[in-house]
Amino acid sequence: MSVIAKQCPDIQVTVVDLNEARIAAWNDEDVNNIPVYEPGLSEIVKEARGRNLFFSTDVDKAIHEADTIFISVNTPTKTYGAGKGLAADLKWIELCARQIARVSKTDKIIVEKSTLPVRTASTLKDILTHTGNGTKFQILSNPEFLAEGTAVKDLLNPDRVLIGGDQNEEGRKAMSALIDVYANWVPRERILTTNVWSSELSKLTANAFLAQRVSSINSLSELCEHTEADISEVARAIGTDSRIGPKFLKASVGFGGSCFQKDILNLVYIARSYGLTEVADYWEQVIIMNDHQKRRFANKIIRTLYNTVNGKKITFLGWAFKKDTNDTRESAAIYVADHLLYEQANITVYDPKVHKEQIYTDLDYLASRSSDVNEELVQVESDPYEACKNAHAIAILTEWDEFKSYDWKRIYDNMLKPAHIFDGRNILDKQQLEAIGFKVSAVGS
Ligand SMILES: NC(=O)c1ccc[n+]([C@@H]2O[C@H](COP(=O)([O-])OP(=O)(O)OC[C@H]3O[C@@H](n4cnc5c(N)ncnc54)[C@H](O)[C@@H]3O)[C@@H](O)[C@H]2O)c1
Repeated sequence: MSVIAKQCPDIQVTVVDLNEARIAAWNDEDVNNIPVYEPGLSEIVKEARGRNLFFSTDVDKAIHEADTIFISVNTPTKTYGAGKGLAADLKWIELCARQIARVSKTDKIIVEKSTLPVRTASTLKDILTHTGNGTKFQILSNPEFLAEGTAVKDLLNPDRVLIGGDQNEEGRKAMSALIDVYANWVPRERILTTNVWSSELSKLTANAFLAQRVSSINSLSELCEHTEADISEVARAIGTDSRIGPKFLKASVGFGGSCFQKDILNLVYIARSYGLTEVADYWEQVIIMNDHQKRRFANKIIRTLYNTVNGKKITFLGWAFKKDTNDTRESAAIYVADHLLYEQANITVYDPKVHKEQIYTDLDYLASRSSDVNEELVQVESDPYEACKNAHAIAILTEWDEFKSYDWKRIYDNMLKPAHIFDGRNILDKQQLEAIGFKVSAVGS
């Protein structure tokens, strides 16, 4: 919404959220304190906030005044009832729809910006038309394809914008209104229109395909570790094939983030609910492989450290699920830490953008042990050199660029010997580190 506000100074954009602390942070005088870290975002907020970009908790007022409403609430995996662990929890979507229906006095375009299961638009339409005041709503699906860490760049220069709508005159009119918004900066040929269901399914499919590439390369990284092959060389060799392409082919400790896993589980659930067992099993394997990769990485640390990590200091460089974001949802670091804590390791974490409280919250959320034990076994440092002092091993969990330019000789000198590095993101120069004296394990070589 900040990018829309920046690119369309004539459109008033109001972002509303129930979370007061979050909105207060978005309104913080110092734009460096906004709650989401994304390169370039604070500058955009600084430019547009107060001009045509507003953050508020007055949801009713914003609904009342809006011509178009983007529903962007969370759609996590259900943790209870039917579809538990697979289906999307649409509780927040439904609450939004009911509030919009209750408050609206004028016709509106409702845009599904959240990632939703196929056919959610019909649920929305049902609620809006049956609980409203007789006002008319057009529902559009406009899934978001940005990647965290490059969100601003992706939004300013998207590969495509996808808009799904009803294939009738009113639907086409609503689609055309939304196209006009994006056309302020996106070339019209990159704005695709489809029916609503195709649009909803395309988002789940895009994430499933991306995650599948990661699991595919990760599955072969294990084979490489048992043979003389090197997964980076294999990835380079296949990535030059124009049919395959070079992106999303880097072997690692596994994918994280709030979207890939939840969206694939969602796809699996939908397929199962139509009785499509083979389709569901096929996509579920992407998740199974990812879980295996995280566990395998932790087990490798344990095995290399002579089958015991009890009381040993292991330093995690990185906690975010990827670089250039402070988002830690489903980060591989959480699961690797949990596995090592089960073996009573002492973990010290350094991440340039993640706050200490978030790290403890992530571990407590797993409910594997009491928060007292998490606080006893896990330390968080704000200086990477301090974090690595007297460690038995370092594990790289996020591919932050700054890790590449550390004084690794200095780090080595202050570690216990033999000093191990487990490069879960394959970002460090193995030969250079080995020349210093480190024992280095990368993924897939
Ligand atoms: N994070 C991403 O990179 C990304 C990318 C593409 C799509 N998506 C999709 O976008 C959606 C949101 O993702 P997110 O990462 O921003 O989630 P999030 O949990 O960070 O944010 C959702 C926000 O919605 C607020 N909210 C919930 N119910 C509300 C209500 N009734 N009224 C007002 N506010 C309400 C919550 O307080 C929260 O701040 C999801 O469907 C996700 O799949 C996310």
